[in-house]
Amino acid sequence: MIYLDNAATSFPKPEPVYQALDTFARTRLANPGRAGHRMAVAAERTLDAARHALNQLFRGEGPERWIFTLNCTDGLNLAIKGTVRPGDHVITSDLEHNSISRPLRALEKAGAIALTRLASDRGYIDPDAVRRALTPRTRLVALTHAANVLGTVQPIEAIAPIVREADALFLVDAAQTAGVVPIDLRATPIDLIAFPGHKALYGPTGTGALYVGPRANPTAWREGGTGGDSSSEVQPTILPYFLEGGTPNVLGVAGLAAGVVWVAERGPDALRRHEVDLLRRVVDWVECTDGWKVAGRWDPDTHVGALSLVVPDGLTPQDLGSILDTSFDIAVRPGLHCAPYVHRNLGTFPDGTIRLSPGAFNTEEDIDDFLNALAEITAGVL
Ligand SMILES: Cc1ncc(COP(=O)(O)O)c(C=O)c1O
Repeated sequence: MIYLDNAATSFPKPEPVYQALDTFARTRLANPGRAGHRMAVAAERTLDAARHALNQLFRGEGPERWIFTLNCTDGLNLAIKGTVRPGDHVITSDLEHNSISRPLRALEKAGAIALTRLASDRGYIDPDAVRRALTPRTRLVALTHAANVLGTVQPIEAIAPIVREADALFLVDAAQTAGVVPIDLRATPIDLIAFPGHKALYGPTGTGALYVGPRANPTAWREGGTGGDSSSEVQPTILPYFLEGGTPNVLGVAGLAAGVVWVAERGPDALRRHEVDLLRRVVDWVECTDGWKVAGRWDPDTHVGALSLVVPDGLTPQDLGSILDTSFDIAVRPGLHCAPYVHRNLGTFPDGTIRLSPGAFNTEEDIDDFLNALAEITAGVL
């Protein structure tokens, strides 16, 4: 199969990730920190090493500030629900994935918060629009770093100081950028950043992380065993354990740690450029082919490896996705991509678009096969 759905989850994983999973599962798969025996200590060290690796790659304020989560959704929910209080104002955008839009909309519908949803312009949010939307009641600004439908990277370096100046918290959803866009938490005042381990950091599914900066103090909505300090009647307040009740996915984190090392060796920007170079072939093809359109603004310098195509009349994204899968052995993602508001903005609601998202292991030949398949399918239909 030609796998072009890396924005959903990356596949295949680098060889060291498979090896780390196999070795860890066979030799160290104990409950980290719970027992004090050598295997438990080795498992705890794996978690610590992964926190250090994340802290180094993103230049955070300390490894203990990295909370392991189930996925990006888990981290975003922890950040949003642990931070927002009744009566707060929250700013978000129409580019967001449902993992931000739904918790915020639910709070808005319950009358708990006032919500401003900024409209994007061809895939980009204007920092001045954030400035204009801030009020004295704004507690949180929750924005995606790159739109998962369009691949457009948002100017978070310009937005973060605006949010900080207003004394609000800045939550960044780095689901589409962690591993492919350099993020420097020392240089950019971000309070909370969530990402999955299973996309461009090349870890397995079931992994993710939330970084909790010094100004953020989310409440723990999952309380329970933390390995140490069992005598305490309530959740110990020390990070990361405060926010990590229950046995962590230490096997997944062992794989994620190998993925982070693999990414750090290559450098996020080199990985991004490989993906964007592949997408350039698609954009060139679209420009000289009737009926097709790229959704959003194509700017290779502010793009990750996800691109949405508006399909020609006479075809639906769903039909196209299924023909590509069954007749050409090519995996892409048709539809709304869990981000309905941006499709409304683009006029592609409710059918959506077809999104392709190459990863580190895709080649020019994969893209050419994809484009030949599109040409063949449309020739038969149009
Ligand atoms: C921008 C964005 N945010 C959040 C998520 C949710 O990630 P997860 O499935 O790891 O919870 C995704 C997944 O595609 C995404 O693209």
